[in-house]
Amino acid sequence: MKWTVKKIRESKGKEPLPTITAYDAITARMADETGMPLILVGDSLGTTSLGFETTVPVTMEIMLHHTKAVRKGAKNSLIVADLPFLSYQINDDEAIRNAGRFLQEAGADAVKLEGGEMRAPLIKKLVDNGIPVMAHLGVLPQSVKESGYAAKGRTDEDFERLKKDILAVNNAGAFCVVLECVTSDAACELTKISTIPTIGIGSGNGCDGQIIVISDLLGMIEGPVPKFVKKYAEFASTGKSAIEDFIADVKSRVYPGEEHTYK
Ligand code: KIV
Repeated sequence: MKWTVKKIRESKGKEPLPTITAYDAITARMADETGMPLILVGDSLGTTSLGFETTVPVTMEIMLHHTKAVRKGAKNSLIVADLPFLSYQINDDEAIRNAGRFLQEAGADAVKLEGGEMRAPLIKKLVDNGIPVMAHLGVLPQSVKESGYAAKGRTDEDFERLKKDILAVNNAGAFCVVLECVTSDAACELTKISTIPTIGIGSGNGCDGQIIVISDLLGMIEGPVPKFVKKYAEFASTGKSAIEDFIADVKSRVYPGEEHTYK
């Protein structure tokens, strides 16, 4: 089944919606073949795949490159591309042009941008110009230097801010909204007051859907992970031991064997 913006919007209040990030054709194909409704080409690829310390150095060209690869791997999942830092903050014309490039050049179905009430006029303009938008509230990785990684919604002031923000992006026409590291009570309330699906990451079990970073889910990175991450596999240790087996086989001339050899 081909996933569309309309179907994602209509999933509100029904069975929880699983969503995931992917950054290349191989992992996108894996996710797509499971029937994954939505794949986000997150700018988290900067930290997970490119070795940057934050998402801030990720550029339009990097995001376009990875979005094209994900599109090639995924047939049915809805592909959302993250607008990187400074691609939508300077002015609306630049934002529309950059967002449009994801649809026109990379085959994305929608874009994601960070921010609430302040970004609502831009979200409306993008939607009016035919570009579906996923909003993003709570912890905003592109602004961590200013606002940090601490969970949002703990104080009344913070909670009131989030309520204004979700209503603003909802009314501006966003088709769903990521809630990143929002306290679970606040996320439940935000889910109740909005008419679009809330997609949680580190925001408890009351959201309409959940998103997880693929390298976290697969255990591709060794060492500590954030509290909200559940590893469903241990790719890093399995992968390293496979590489060690290869090294041993090469050194002992076990590999390549007869069955790997052309006669
Ligand atoms: O960049 C990303 O992967 C994201 C998710 C964490 C929602 O924004």
